[in-house]
Amino acid sequence: MEFKTIIEPFKIKSVEPIKITTAEERKVFLERARYNPFMLQSDEVMIDFLTDSGTSAMSANQWAGIMIGDESYAGSKSWDHMHTTIKDLTGYHHILPTHQGRAAERILYSVLGGKGKVFLSNTHFDTTRANIEYTGASAIDIPIPEATHPKDYHPFKGNMDIEKLEKLVREYKPENIGAVILTVTNNSGGGQPVSMQNAKEIHSVCSKYGVRFILDCCRIAENAYFIRHREKGYENKTYKEIAHEMFALADGAVMSAKKDALVNMGGFLAIEEQKLFEQCSSLLIITEGFTTYGGLSGRDMEAIAIGLKEIFEPDYLLYRIKSTAYLGEHLDKMGIPLMLPIGGHAVYIDAKEFYPQIPVEQYPGQALVCELYLKGGIRAVEIGSVMFGKYDENHKLIHAPMELVRLAIPRRVYTQSHIEYVIEVFGKIIEGREKVRGYEITYETAFLRHFTAEFRKL
Ligand code: F0G
Repeated sequence: MEFKTIIEPFKIKSVEPIKITTAEERKVFLERARYNPFMLQSDEVMIDFLTDSGTSAMSANQWAGIMIGDESYAGSKSWDHMHTTIKDLTGYHHILPTHQGRAAERILYSVLGGKGKVFLSNTHFDTTRANIEYTGASAIDIPIPEATHPKDYHPFKGNMDIEKLEKLVREYKPENIGAVILTVTNNSGGGQPVSMQNAKEIHSVCSKYGVRFILDCCRIAENAYFIRHREKGYENKTYKEIAHEMFALADGAVMSAKKDALVNMGGFLAIEEQKLFEQCSSLLIITEGFTTYGGLSGRDMEAIAIGLKEIFEPDYLLYRIKSTAYLGEHLDKMGIPLMLPIGGHAVYIDAKEFYPQIPVEQYPGQALVCELYLKGGIRAVEIGSVMFGKYDENHKLIHAPMELVRLAIPRRVYTQSHIEYVIEVFGKIIEGREKVRGYEITYETAFLRHFTAEFRKL
């Protein structure tokens, strides 16, 4: 017997209260945060869709693992557990633990980067780009053309443009390519999946020119779900087999375990090359910690090892992908312009289309983020020109290709009635949409400005 309703495949054992706030209170909180939700206190937020990173609810098994975490400085059993699990999943020989994804990125890209080097990706995540550019290298995004058309359907909108890849490798010369980075799923491009076919084609181009192929695999289980259900030939493979096959096409991977590994902190770097591993190990020891803990506690490593297994459970992945789609499909029906199809970890709204009266220089995405907070206490993040905008020599904004707002859904945290509430808030957001105005930045930093930028309402 089949049922229409997909239930959360877990029971709640421990709860965290949500403080219910009023619109008047939220107005004061947001003003104090200078209209940047990153500056809000968490108890000022009712539904926190800022990120799916480090916000997962751990399982009873993971909490049990916390208790048996081995805190030895060297040779920790928990590291052994994490190491074996990652080796088994990725097939790579050399693995380094890091405190989160960007630590792995900083280590790898400072060895591979530097002035004159070029990195090519379906889309560099903001910390990836920042870590690359910080070394003096450049980061070029080459998503497929469909990726920037929110309404057009493509089953694998996260794919990389293979023609452009080959053209750019030749143009910049293979020896100057730091790495080709495939981000799965493509977070900044709308949480869209990447097909195995695309990974195979990247592998061929990289092998042909002798260029390194790195996976940014922080949502690889969610990506595997889409491959199994959308790509021919994968219907009967397990999610883990699919992920394993993708790892086998690349030369290494960086992972923020704060996403698909269902933990609150952690990451790793996994590579095949011995020399590169030695260079990265030295950097790890200088700034993160010894190679058997890399900035993590034994208990964190135990929880990662367990989380990396739970994430491939079919009932979990079905619930995860379908519950994200549930929110997306309801918003779509209400006429909210979305990035379609709905991705794995988040629903992305096309704020430029939602607020046509707000020019990109006045950040329509930021306006929507502020409205969501003011109307419903929902915290979301702008993924547009606040996050990716740059200035030309005359201080004119070079805007991002899209003005998106991301509703990132923490794993195993919110129930269906929380989502029903969010849908209801969107009803209110639609009502007054033509009166909403944009914002101006009054303070910003040179790198990753969105975290600390301050805004003024226009
Ligand atoms: N790569 C991708 C694709 C990411 O989404 C992130 C983080 C990182 C790397 C960096 O990992 O945070 O552990 O250092 N994304 C979070 C987000 C912050 O909200 O999407 P980290």
